[in-house]
Amino acid sequence: MKHHIVISVMGILLYASTLRAEPPMEDAQARALAKIRAQRTEGLIAVQPWVQWMESGMLGVGWLTDRPADGLVEWTQEPGPDAVWRQAWYSEDGLRQANGTVQRAVIRGTDPAKPVRLRAVSRPIVSFQPYQVVFGDPVISQERCLPALAQSDGAISMIVFNDIHNRPQFYPLLTRAAGPDVHLAVFNGDVLEDPQREEDLIEKLLLPMSWFASQKIPCLFVRGNHETRGAYARQLKSYLALSQNRYYGAMTMGSMRILFLDSGEDKPDTSNEYSGLVDFDTYLEEELAWLQQELSSKASTDAVWRVVVVHIPPDWRKEEAQLWHGERRMRERFAPLFDAGRVHVVISGHTHHAEWIQPCPDATRGFRWPVVIGGAHPLDKATVIRVDTTPEKLIVKTLNASGAVIAEQVWKPMTSSPPSPWP
Ligand SMILES: [Fe+2]
Repeated sequence: MKHHIVISVMGILLYASTLRAEPPMEDAQARALAKIRAQRTEGLIAVQPWVQWMESGMLGVGWLTDRPADGLVEWTQEPGPDAVWRQAWYSEDGLRQANGTVQRAVIRGTDPAKPVRLRAVSRPIVSFQPYQVVFGDPVISQERCLPALAQSDGAISMIVFNDIHNRPQFYPLLTRAAGPDVHLAVFNGDVLEDPQREEDLIEKLLLPMSWFASQKIPCLFVRGNHETRGAYARQLKSYLALSQNRYYGAMTMGSMRILFLDSGEDKPDTSNEYSGLVDFDTYLEEELAWLQQELSSKASTDAVWRVVVVHIPPDWRKEEAQLWHGERRMRERFAPLFDAGRVHVVISGHTHHAEWIQPCPDATRGFRWPVVIGGAHPLDKATVIRVDTTPEKLIVKTLNASGAVIAEQVWKPMTSSPPSPWP
């Protein structure tokens, strides 16, 4: 099936009534931060559960305990007090996760047509001997409920954040600006800046993810260059439940194939800033090999829409001499694969400047897709990118914190006559 861009609208819509009703932004940010911090609780469950999309029918759940404990998740897709609850946990190399404060579980086999209810259960470990472990009383977290993913009209909506840079108070405000009925919140890199210790991770990433779960929205974490830096960057993965245990991958939601990519660092591996401790050239080659296969897979080619989410944008406009290492890699290595794989749109961040890069006028160069780049702090420059899909339509919007639509583009699948926008 060929696709064709049929509507392109760039404009600014101001919602004056919304703006008028708002208190000063400082108060709004303080209240938003309080909502995020409310996910930290007293007792054994120190941070309430967060939920990550892993792949179809598969959810990762994480939470923190205030002392060494074990942990599992009880889940059900039945309503009411008499629901039968099933159990899920996390294990690696034959060992179920236990005796730490970082708890995870992986739920498999959910029916996308039904909501999922879940709650975490942990027991403090009083004594851990080789042949006898003594537990305290189990404690159950707050219950979280995610709505059914499968809608009667096939509609799926996601919101994408980038470059939050340690300002978790932005999430409630931007989420409200994006509007209701969201199935997925994607963190598109540099949301967490240079983590030095666990508390950075909790305050800037895990509490926000937990807040999204309380709002019935699961998350998808995509790494930016700032999540690779800092003394705690190497511990980040053990707090997350990632598809294939990688920071990149692809999944199908309704008619959309989402490709979420790790664009690595922005400077060469040999740069002094990295002290000889990074190996992104090797890692990105592995990712590129995977991406080539993914874009020719049946899951990708059968999808009505192919949407890439990646932190560093591929930009055809820049002079060659101005390109940083990471930008050059996106332009020279990733962009040709996006063309070959007939990607519809690329969603990025990194530059801190909200804009849309339209396809290259010179079709022989490729870049046959727009790049939607989100803004960054302060709040009046920050944005959220909303993607709404049905089998009949793909809509991408950039909104600011006041709910104004800064830019919007609509795609419709075409089955005949109009020429393909791809060479
Ligand atoms: Fe960045």
